[in-house]
Amino acid sequence: MGILSGKKGIIFGALNDQSIAWKVAEVAHAEGAEFVLTNAPIAMRMGEINGLAEATGSQVISADATSMEDLDELFSKSMEILGGKLDLVLHSIGMSVNVRKKVPYPELNYEWLEKGWDVSAVSFHKVLQTAWKKDAMNEWGSILALSYIAAQRVFPGYNDMSDNKSYLESIARNFGYYFGKEKNVRVNTVSQSPTMTTAGSGVKGFGGFLGYADVTSPLGNASAEDCAKYCVSLFSDFTKMVTMQNLFHDGGFSSTGISKEVMDIFDKEE
Ligand SMILES: NC(=O)c1ccc[n+]([C@@H]2O[C@H](COP(=O)([O-])OP(=O)(O)OC[C@H]3O[C@@H](n4cnc5c(N)ncnc54)[C@H](O)[C@@H]3O)[C@@H](O)[C@H]2O)c1
Repeated sequence: MGILSGKKGIIFGALNDQSIAWKVAEVAHAEGAEFVLTNAPIAMRMGEINGLAEATGSQVISADATSMEDLDELFSKSMEILGGKLDLVLHSIGMSVNVRKKVPYPELNYEWLEKGWDVSAVSFHKVLQTAWKKDAMNEWGSILALSYIAAQRVFPGYNDMSDNKSYLESIARNFGYYFGKEKNVRVNTVSQSPTMTTAGSGVKGFGGFLGYADVTSPLGNASAEDCAKYCVSLFSDFTKMVTMQNLFHDGGFSSTGISKEVMDIFDKEE
């Protein structure tokens, strides 16, 4: 359809072909966008991103999203490569050391908490601040980050990532006010169904989250491909007036109390 035709941007977080950012890059390319791909230097070592870059005609710039220096260089170089200001930015980044090391929530290690908070939440503020200071966004541009419903409800095992996602969503609301008022740019988070990716499968009991959400959601879990299409719609001019929102992309999970399938597990009378 070409709904992103002429639009330029930066896509953070494509690690491998399971990554949500990878799918967003594929759909955005198919819809006519031009973009720079970026990831943390350590993630680049695996080299998988080069295949995506080739397929989408993109350049790759490594940047640690917690480093203001890296972000400054990334935005400058991207505008140089793309020949002007940006219309879209995707923040698809998450990591918790406490989750990785399987530390239970009541016993969180605070050094690790700070690291995960910086990578998963504050980095979004840093990306927004870099775009703000460099006046890098075109009017009616769209900036998105990915979230999860553990920001609103308890999912044991999601651990300090729950707090990080609450913070991330709050940053989208607050920075969204300034970006809207002064630059006519929108800022939102997309709260996606559990999805089998490298970050997702690192969470203890992830198969349980995934299966439960799938039988609870009337439409079933949303795939990474469907999430990518939704993100692309949010980058397009069809959603110009949507900002400061946390948008659930979850097959109806967030509005469902219980499904017939879950009731049947406990209803012994039938
Ligand atoms: N998989 C799920 O179930 C699910 C559900 C809802 C939301 N999300 C969110 O989607 C986003 C993308 O995750 P994914 O599931 O595609 O997994 P993924 O592991 O493919 O992506 C996570 C990315 O974060 C990058 N990253 C980590 N530290 C970084 C740093 N310092 N600087 C720059 N990049 C860094 C990784 O290299 C990786 O590319 C995350 O925000 C995640 O929390 C995932």
